[in-house]
Amino acid sequence: MDYNRLLITAALPYANGPVHIGHLAGCFLPADIYARYQRAQKRDIKFVCGSDEHGVPITIRAMKEGITPQQVVDKYHALIKESFEAMGISFDIYSRTSNKVHHETSQAFFKKLYDDNLFEERESEQYYDEEKQVFLADRYIVGTCPVCGNENAYGDQCEKCGSSLSPEQLINPHSALSNSKPVKRKTTHWYFPLNKYEQWLKEWIVDGKKDEWKANVYGQCKSWLDSGLQPRAMTRDSNWGVPVPLPGAEGKVLYVWFDAPIGYISATKELTPMWADYWQKEDTKLVHFIGKDNIVFHCIIFPAMLKAHGGYVLPDNVPANEFLNIEGDKVSTSRNWAVWVHEYIKDFPEQQDVLRYVLCANAPETKDNDFTWKDFQDRTNSELVSIFGNFVNRAFVLMHKLCNGKVPKLHEGIMDDADRALIEDIKNAKTLVESDIENYKFRDGLFEVIDLARKGNKYMQDKQPWIVAKSLEENPEAQKQIDNCLHLCLQLSANLAILANPFLPFTARKMCHMMKVVDRMLEWENAGKINLLNVGYPLRAPELLFRKIEDEEVKAQVEKLHANLVKSQAEQAAAKPAAAKPAADANAKPAPVANDKNEIVYDDFAKVDLRVATILQAEKVEKADKLLKLELDLGFEKRTVVSGIAMHYKPEDIVGKQVVVVANLAPRKMRGIESKGMILMADNSDGKLVFVSPADNTAPGSEVK
Ligand code: 2FM
Ligand code: ZN
Repeated sequence: MDYNRLLITAALPYANGPVHIGHLAGCFLPADIYARYQRAQKRDIKFVCGSDEHGVPITIRAMKEGITPQQVVDKYHALIKESFEAMGISFDIYSRTSNKVHHETSQAFFKKLYDDNLFEERESEQYYDEEKQVFLADRYIVGTCPVCGNENAYGDQCEKCGSSLSPEQLINPHSALSNSKPVKRKTTHWYFPLNKYEQWLKEWIVDGKKDEWKANVYGQCKSWLDSGLQPRAMTRDSNWGVPVPLPGAEGKVLYVWFDAPIGYISATKELTPMWADYWQKEDTKLVHFIGKDNIVFHCIIFPAMLKAHGGYVLPDNVPANEFLNIEGDKVSTSRNWAVWVHEYIKDFPEQQDVLRYVLCANAPETKDNDFTWKDFQDRTNSELVSIFGNFVNRAFVLMHKLCNGKVPKLHEGIMDDADRALIEDIKNAKTLVESDIENYKFRDGLFEVIDLARKGNKYMQDKQPWIVAKSLEENPEAQKQIDNCLHLCLQLSANLAILANPFLPFTARKMCHMMKVVDRMLEWENAGKINLLNVGYPLRAPELLFRKIEDEEVKAQVEKLHANLVKSQAEQAAAKPAAAKPAADANAKPAPVANDKNEIVYDDFAKVDLRVATILQAEKVEKADKLLKLELDLGFEKRTVVSGIAMHYKPEDIVGKQVVVVANLAPRKMRGIESKGMILMADNSDGKLVFVSPADNTAPGSEVK
């Protein structure tokens, strides 16, 4: 180890809403596991975080809720802080960027770069709302998406189709504040010359860090560096944020991505007068835990800022995770498709470790992963309850039944290979978990913990002390076998508490209570030992470590997710007319109307079997004006399909045409005729339905994908 202290940071969440389980899995839980492990190693560590209270996300939320930005951050800072505490995220400090110390620290940082003549002052044209007399960030400009027709696309992105946009691309751009048409106005900002740090960053990351950093992190950095870095404005026109500390800079604040990472420094300052040791002494290891959307800020921009300022340590590692989806769909705050931490805590009181377990076991460490309530139930019931909880429970129950409730002796003279193998397993588990955590492989580390419990179960099952006990009358010596088995199972339980502690801290504490040991037993140096519980020491009766998750609970949670989604759609639909639409631009092209269908994942789409078919025959269905009965050739079979196109096509005109059919649609009777499939039609703007046909002659039965 070439460092003497550790500074662990977790990305400051925006105080514009509650935290969801994706936040936990992506950043806060791995950071907490790492911090708890380092504390157990008795290393000198500080684990800092806080709310990110500036920037457009806060002001947008204020606008939506009709309250001030200050009210927004006060409300959500408190809620987020409580959620973290409840989940056992063990920050040494959870600060906030509206604090005085943060304003002063970030202003001093900016001023130093300014005084060193690092910034470039540049004039540019930006959108301005003349009615409200403010410059508009891209997010404040709303208009119709040129790609999908969504009328509520933002000036930087369309949330419906995901396209990245600039305000210039929007059709009918208007200010989200006043609905007026924004105008361009000149403004001056201070640009940080990132381009001047490109070479240094290449040497530091590409030549230096590539073997240590995770592939996803390194890959993103490399692609940024390969495309060349540009100067970046570090100030904004706004009345919400840290004021730019220069004369004549009224109405200008620091860019949120300039001030937020400095929030790590301010939080450390608030925490300890020794803050400079953690930030400025070279033997500090700085580790930033973040989600993948923050990589460029933590690996390129913030390090360049620190380098430019001078005197600060640089991150040793930035173990960013990918994203966690929920039930096969991307987490979306606006659609309320999320599992909110504060709600989980209410719905599952005292079950924090269960969520910590599932989120870590399924963490998006190398790729996006999916959280499902079914998986939550399966993992809890078949791993935590059946393996870990069951093992500890049996060890304690049998010790009370067969060893008078006291830790039995280990009779070394009669130890066998199975006993010795178990002792080896305990020692190895320490090495494995340790190496996994040190290398940010938390899933693997947790797997090793469960694997040790699994080995304990197998050992006990093979030894069967409850069967051996039946022979005690004729062979009192057999008690020694029982003692050995339960002695080792109890020592293994104590080891499980130590190894599980970073991952499942509530459980580890419960186990300490059962074993009547103080928390100091959980220190990492004790792992791997088999003398943790003294012989003859009376232990408490077992407590239930985990409870089963019932089917009804899973069902209720899935229903809640869907109900939230429907509710948020209804609210959005109701809110639409309120945002008065801007006067139509006479020259703008009519845009197709975007539908309100939910986003689906590829697997949903893949369920639909789309095939090319040729129409062999077509005839009107009696007494049904709109229906045609069609005979189709699907290559592998002929089918009858009834289609509502009689108002658009004459039967004789469509024989021989090629169409696309949903081939696996459940059959349905229409006017007594069984229809097996559905023909895809496009709804033209003039109300006419037209066939969706393959461009060239295509073999009937060909799959459409
Ligand atoms: O993405 C976010 O939620 C940001 N608020 C993260 C900031 S991390 C750090 F720089 F403060
Ligand atoms: Zn769009």
